[in-house]
Formats: sequence, structure tokens, C-alpha cells
Amino acid sequence: MANNPAKSGSGLSALVPRPLKRFLGMLRRALIYRNYDSSAYWRKRTEAQGEARVLWRNEAYNRCYRRRQQELIEAFLPEIDREYRVLDIGCGVGTVAKMLAQHPLIRIDAVDFPEMIAAARRENSSPCITYIASSAEDYFDSQKRYDLVLSSACFSAIRDITSLRQAIRNCAAMTAPGGRMLMLDPFHRWNYLARSKFSSRQVIALMDSLGFTCIRKSGVLFWPYREWLANSDFPPEQIEKHFHRGERLLKVLGAHLWADYKILEFVKVGKVRLKHDLSNIEHNCHRDTEHTENRQPTSDN
Ligand SMILES: C[S@@+](CC[C@H](N)C(=O)[O-])C[C@H]1O[C@@H](n2cnc3c(N)ncnc32)[C@H](O)[C@@H]1O
Repeated sequence: MANNPAKSGSGLSALVPRPLKRFLGMLRRALIYRNYDSSAYWRKRTEAQGEARVLWRNEAYNRCYRRRQQELIEAFLPEIDREYRVLDIGCGVGTVAKMLAQHPLIRIDAVDFPEMIAAARRENSSPCITYIASSAEDYFDSQKRYDLVLSSACFSAIRDITSLRQAIRNCAAMTAPGGRMLMLDPFHRWNYLARSKFSSRQVIALMDSLGFTCIRKSGVLFWPYREWLANSDFPPEQIEKHFHRGERLLKVLGAHLWADYKILEFVKVGKVRLKHDLSNIEHNCHRDTEHTENRQPTSDN
């Protein structure tokens, strides 16, 4: 996400002009993929403030994204007329869980590292949310069945691919028949944008092998603007203006290809009541040419 743990602060670097530093940083990111311990990285991120702990440095940008994210999640929710169980995997400080808890029938289990969970319990508690301190790869309860498993940029944050696969497998096994998994995750293989180096195509293949069908594939956050704005010092009005411009560009240029965050929705074999008509889905996953992602620039929030 916003801050690269690999940033070094040697005395020499103070002599290099900022634009040159930025350019060299971009070049390094494009050429070298650093596979650091993402668990330690995320636990340390709790030392920051506000939403910057889980998103980016510019809070105005974070607010724009949260609004867009809320619209997206609300649009994905089915008509709910009974208790609806949600697993928010990698819940961070609980912002999304709290969003979901506004619905009277939604019950949320929200999982993350102990440091994040401590902040979530302090800041976003609700009788509808059970916060659970665990890594995603270790969280499995054979007694639990969820109607929806939501990864809001959690899976893509797990840099160790074996752990990432294990986390997805656990979540898949805890999804009820006919239940859904929704991922709003920056899945990329291009060094520059990759957090975990795992593409949507690989996720879809893994989910396929676990008995899930991909029913929506789209994206949010036009990546060149996300890169430009999210960690910038632009004031809120400018962020707001450019954010929306970026999302409009995304629509014109193709959401999946130019999106930083991919939107992948899966259903576990069986019937599911959807608010939206499947014939209207933005992309059919099997028709979509995911391989293009590997050739295109598709980063770390
Ligand atoms: C980009 S943040 C998103 C947080 C939250 N879902 C949100 O939308 O605000 C990624 C989150 O995934 C969590 N995470 C990363 N690796 C994880 C792992 N192996 N197990 C559990 N959580 C993990 C991080 O601690 C962090 O809270």
C-alpha cells in the first residue's frame, strides 16, 4: 500500500533532488520486485494514523475511495431478509466491517493481525461485528459458513504465495453453498503495481479449482491517477476532481485493464439470489482476456 517498507534513508539520499529521487524510485519499482515479509509490514503500519494505516497517505484520496467502495459493496449485496453472515478477511481497522454493520441483518466476523484488531475494537466496535485476531492463512473454523467472504485488499497483501493460496482456500471452504466471495484487490504481476505477485487470472484459476465460478470481473481506481494522487500532497478539492476524472477515464479505457484494484466476484456452485441480473455483468470472466494484464502496466497501497 502507500508506504514501501523497502525505502531507505541514507544520508546521501538527502543530496538527491526530489524529482530525480521519485524517478529512480519508479524505475526501481518497475525493475525490481521486493518480496519482503508482508505480515511484519502490515503489523507495523498500525503505528501510522487514520486510514493511512490501511490505505494511502492522502486522506482526501482515501475518503474518495471509501465512498466509491461503499457504493460498490452495496450494489453487490443481495436482498437480505434473514441473517446474512459475512467474513471480512484482513479487515484492517474495521472501516468496511463498520460499513456493513449498518445493515440490521448482517453479522460480520472480521479477521486481521492482533495489532489491527486492537485498533478495530477501539475504533469500530459494533454488536454485529466479532473481531478475530488471526492471520488469514491460519483462520479456519469448520463450524462456520459465510454467505459472503469479502477481501478488501487482503489477499493481494499476502506476499508469500503459499500463504496467499492457503488463505483463499480457507475462505473458500468456509463459504456456504451458493455463497459468494468478493475481492476488491490489486492483483497484478507487473512489478510496478504488484503487491503479492499474483494475477486475477491465477486467482480465477484457483477459485475454479475450489468449485467457484467467477460472475463479475471489473475494476476500480484508474492506476496512473491512483499512483499520482494517493500519496500526494494535493488539497482535498483537487483530489476530489482528479479522482472522479480518473474513474471516468477508467470507464472509457476499460476497467479491468487500467484498474489498480480488481473487482472479482465468485459464486460457490449452487443457486444464489442476486440483486443484479447476471446478463448485465460488466465482463464475463471467461470471455475477458486476463492475459493482457501481464503485458500491461497494471502498485503498493
Ligand atoms: C490494504 S489493507 C486493507 C484493510 C481493510 N480490508 C480495509 O479495506 O480497510 C490490507 C489488510 O490486510 C491485512 N493482512 C495482510 N496480510 C494478512 C494476513 N496474512 N492475514 C490477515 N490479514 C492480513 C493487513 O493487516 C491489512 O489490514
